[in-house]
Amino acid sequence: MTRKILVTSALPYANGAIHLGHLVEYIQTDIWVRFQKMRGHECWYVCADDTHGTPIMLRAEKEGITPEALIQRVHGEHFRDFSGFQVGFDNYYSTHSDETRACANDIYGKLKAAGLIETRTIEQFYDPVKQMFLPDRFIKGECPKCHAKDQYGDNCEACGAAYAPTDLIEPYSAVSGAKPELRNSEHYFFKLSDPRCESFLRKYTSRDNGVLQPEAANKMQEWLGEPGENKLTDWDISRDAPYFGFEIPGAQGKYFYVWLDAPIGYMGSFRNLCGKKGLDFDEYFKPDSQAELYHFIGKDILYFHALFWPAELAHAGYRTPTKIFAHGFLTVDGAKMSKSRGTFITAESYLNTGLNPEWLRYYYAAKLSATMEDIDLNLEDFVARVNSDLVGKYVNIASRSAGFIAKRFNGQLAPAQADLPAIRAIQEAAERIAELYEAREFGKAMREVMLLTDAANQYVDSVKPWELAKQEGKEVELHAACTNALNLFRLLTVLLKPILPAVTAKVEKFFNIAPLGWADAQTLLAAGHAINPYEHLMTRIDPKLIEKLVDANKESLAPAPEQHSQQRHAEHQQKEVQAAAAETAYCTIDDFGKVDLRIAKIVDASHVEGADKLIRLQLDIGEEKPRQVFAGIKSAYDPATLVGRLTVMVANLAPRKMKFGLSEGMVLAASDPEGKTGGLYILSPDAGAQPGMRVK
Ligand code: MSP
Ligand code: ZN
Repeated sequence: MTRKILVTSALPYANGAIHLGHLVEYIQTDIWVRFQKMRGHECWYVCADDTHGTPIMLRAEKEGITPEALIQRVHGEHFRDFSGFQVGFDNYYSTHSDETRACANDIYGKLKAAGLIETRTIEQFYDPVKQMFLPDRFIKGECPKCHAKDQYGDNCEACGAAYAPTDLIEPYSAVSGAKPELRNSEHYFFKLSDPRCESFLRKYTSRDNGVLQPEAANKMQEWLGEPGENKLTDWDISRDAPYFGFEIPGAQGKYFYVWLDAPIGYMGSFRNLCGKKGLDFDEYFKPDSQAELYHFIGKDILYFHALFWPAELAHAGYRTPTKIFAHGFLTVDGAKMSKSRGTFITAESYLNTGLNPEWLRYYYAAKLSATMEDIDLNLEDFVARVNSDLVGKYVNIASRSAGFIAKRFNGQLAPAQADLPAIRAIQEAAERIAELYEAREFGKAMREVMLLTDAANQYVDSVKPWELAKQEGKEVELHAACTNALNLFRLLTVLLKPILPAVTAKVEKFFNIAPLGWADAQTLLAAGHAINPYEHLMTRIDPKLIEKLVDANKESLAPAPEQHSQQRHAEHQQKEVQAAAAETAYCTIDDFGKVDLRIAKIVDASHVEGADKLIRLQLDIGEEKPRQVFAGIKSAYDPATLVGRLTVMVANLAPRKMKFGLSEGMVLAASDPEGKTGGLYILSPDAGAQPGMRVK
């Protein structure tokens, strides 16, 4: 049976670059969609930029352009990045579109007619200088709990407390710095607390209903509370001018809150696609639709997708999502992505560094499951896994057998051996692997595929085509061995195609065959079939590229936000100074000033297991925590004699991730330039110098 399936990924905000965290979601969704298409289903994948709201309005203002110009530019950047990673949307649209506006007005109108919209006057912070109401994010002040300064209006980053912006001590506007005033304003609410919404949501989000993953269903039931508890509160869906968004029909100066029209953007994008392809929109969105609707999202936006959105749809006369698939967050080397460590990696920088997008697609696939658990991109493991699995195992099968077919057999294949155990194993596993893809258990699917790939390699190792090729009278055996190997390779390609679309396209060209579908896992190439010359399919990852990538994403010592523009300016000046200095080979005083030298007290020193040159130092430079530095001084010093000494360190060297941990600076040591004496002498200041003092 051919299924009709509509799939979405969350709509990325139009004010930031796509990064590797985002890509977890778009790659996950894309793999699933490609799989459905290979199964022969009618499957549409739509997405769009999420273009409305205060941050986008202010960002455009800061850049001195209109919001329309900003979202148009970012749309181009996002589409370029997604295309670069082979994310194959059927439509990549914008929420700032006629279709989305029409759908938003329609849904709002129907909810209003159903008595689910209400207006109420609320008190909110207003920026008297900027003359606008301030979203929580744009109000800062002192945390009422721990008294940390400059905390956001909704929660404290220092102690984690959650509160209302009105609880902040000495609040100020993050936009103008002005002291905000409380003002009244009429707001529009979607009555989520209405008994109709509550009873619908209780059923819709229940574990038994199966729309949500079990852990997500539990969370939703928690949010709903016990029957009668009335935990659901009405949802504020309006914002006052100035706002970049859609004006609410019949409510001048009031705009739909960005999260109202964002999910409606899924509909808008699909409606636009229907226009282009002649599809029937209603067939997908009418209440009794037989089509399936799936939303892939991150766990952070579950509330919007599992509560507000289905409740809106259900009460505006539309179908509700078949399933909502939430995934976890990406960490890099076990930690949150960080700009100072260079692990806040943009999609663009990954591609510009020359890394192959299919390396990442494979790595993510190998790590993904159907749960909401976070996934970790371990950069060392990334290199090892891709090089071993994709290049060492998978591509290796073709590269060891293709050449002989071209050179010795005029590019023609012999009959394949249908009962070869390695071939039978793949054909028997194909449906099981299909079920794993369907269930989004990509990691498990990849483990199965790699076991089959191992078996295929064992076959090639057992017949040794390269030895047969050297022996006389072994033509038939050589031909059979290479033919079997290539058939194995083709079958494995079917199983990997959702992950590796570009490699697969090359393989299809090499084999001279039509695009592979899932059913092709049950077929073999006919005897006499002519293939094309083999071209290399994929190179290994050079670990140097990873270093380059991290460097490209490193923001030199994370500056305080308000220093940002000053620093940019300084960096710009430095570039000019450097250009001038390069000609004379002198170091200018400005150049020297860039190096932040500090008196450091060695508070701890220890050997580093597995390193023959390094000592691990903990250096106190008057900061909250000592800095860890790996110094290549093991040949000259016993760690025990170093503890308690003062020395000099470079404090603003970009932190460097080493095999043994993060190195956060460098200590200065003298040595003779040729290194003949082998002596190493770390510097000491005169008596009286204190940890943290600047050396100039
Ligand atoms: N604009 C909203 C979504 C509206 S959908 C109607 C939004 N945008 S976002 O750009 O912040 O995030 C887009 C998607 O990327 C979200 O599903 C989010 O969970 C996901 N991710 C963003 N950073 C991520 C990681 N570090 N790791 C994994 N996914 C992450 O939210
Ligand atoms: Zn606090």
